[in-house]
Amino acid sequence: MTDTFHHLRVNSDRMLAAFNELAHSHRLGATGDGGVNRPTFSEAHLTARKWFHEQIKTAGLEFRTDGAGNYSAFLAANVTPALPGTWTRDRCTPGNLLSKSSVASEAKQSPTYMEIASSHQSLLAMTPPTLLLGSHLDSVPNGGRFDGALGVMAAFEVLRTIKEAGLKLRLNLEAIDFTDEEGTLVGLLGSAALAGHLHRDLLQNPRGRREALLEGMKRAGLSEESMLSAARPKNSLAGYLELHIEQGKRLERAGLDIGIVSAIVGIWSYRLSFIGRADHAGTTTMDDRLDASLGASAFTLAAREIVMKDFPDCVLNIGNMEFTRGAFNIVPARVDVSLEFRSPEEEEFQQLDRTLLECAKQEALRFGLEVKAESLGKHSPTLMSETVQRAFADACDDLGLKHTSLVSGAGHDGQSLADICPVGMIFVPSVDGASHSPREFTEWGDCVNGANVLLQAALRLAA
Ligand code: GLV
Ligand code: MN
Ligand code: MN
Repeated sequence: MTDTFHHLRVNSDRMLAAFNELAHSHRLGATGDGGVNRPTFSEAHLTARKWFHEQIKTAGLEFRTDGAGNYSAFLAANVTPALPGTWTRDRCTPGNLLSKSSVASEAKQSPTYMEIASSHQSLLAMTPPTLLLGSHLDSVPNGGRFDGALGVMAAFEVLRTIKEAGLKLRLNLEAIDFTDEEGTLVGLLGSAALAGHLHRDLLQNPRGRREALLEGMKRAGLSEESMLSAARPKNSLAGYLELHIEQGKRLERAGLDIGIVSAIVGIWSYRLSFIGRADHAGTTTMDDRLDASLGASAFTLAAREIVMKDFPDCVLNIGNMEFTRGAFNIVPARVDVSLEFRSPEEEEFQQLDRTLLECAKQEALRFGLEVKAESLGKHSPTLMSETVQRAFADACDDLGLKHTSLVSGAGHDGQSLADICPVGMIFVPSVDGASHSPREFTEWGDCVNGANVLLQAALRLAA
């Protein structure tokens, strides 16, 4: 590695000023208790995006957006590399670099970062591919101020730092804020659209309900057609790098600075509807009720037992129940349950899925109910690129930061992108592991460490 960028560090104060505005300004979604409420396409979310647009312009970077509403700062490549003389198509084809199966071949062949950049350049001739860095500005309802926002602000700061230093780049750099990572409406929406994985049926039956999606898109000036046309040209991406908080306690407990993600868990979600009969809550005897809440509650407890006993690597969550009609004095006729379960192993999903659906049927039967299951998303577990993991590890070593390899239990946009370009992520420690809550906190020094690792890894791949 040359020393031309080795010394470079992000501007911590500048990054903090931007991060704080996003975290503490009421109009950008701050809730006053340390958290933020910025669900996709809410007023606060759209205002935060306008604010990001202004920041990009002020920084003198190019602003870009697309039909999925992804917002980006863009810094164009500024050198034409020499053709890679020693590379043959066998050793370095776009397939090797851009497909999911690249993990094994990357590990065997171990191309240098420069070779990766050069091979992309030669293959795409006039248009240099883009190295994406980023995360998301949307939040879960009453979530934390670090989840997503840190990754976007760090990516943006990396571009500012590189622009300011006037470094030569073989790849374009883009700091992106992806639409609806959190799944208020669809989940990984902007990244799926960009990767060309978005299908009409996903928009027809989103987990956040169709009416909410239509209203949200209208507010954001987007449409189903624009969403479906946001796919980037094949081979236009050189990779995707994301900095995120860990959202767990492993780094904190181990006293480590950085987690280098090896894989992201898969996530399957369902709406389970337990259906009984509405009755008068005072005049119907206890044994004469078809009470939908009993099926939903019994299933919740039984599903927990199943996962804890037979699927120790998996987790399951029932995050919402909607009662129809929900009232003090009506026996509930219907309860819609939001069910989600996660696993790092593809094969485990099939087995857990069968077991849970059977359990729902049994519990419904026990209380004389009907049950319907509507699948609302099946995201597979995703391996991270060996090359990107190596770039992160080298960057950590150079910066003197202690790192480890870990699996992400949270979903991330890299899942959408891993079959079209090499993807990698790093985590910084979450105090007490708190996340999706206003208690979410990461020491600023850790955030800056993460941003510097992101900067140095990006430069290894792009300079
Ligand atoms: C996103 O934060 C998720 O894992 O649900
Ligand atoms: Mn996130
Ligand atoms: Mn999140």
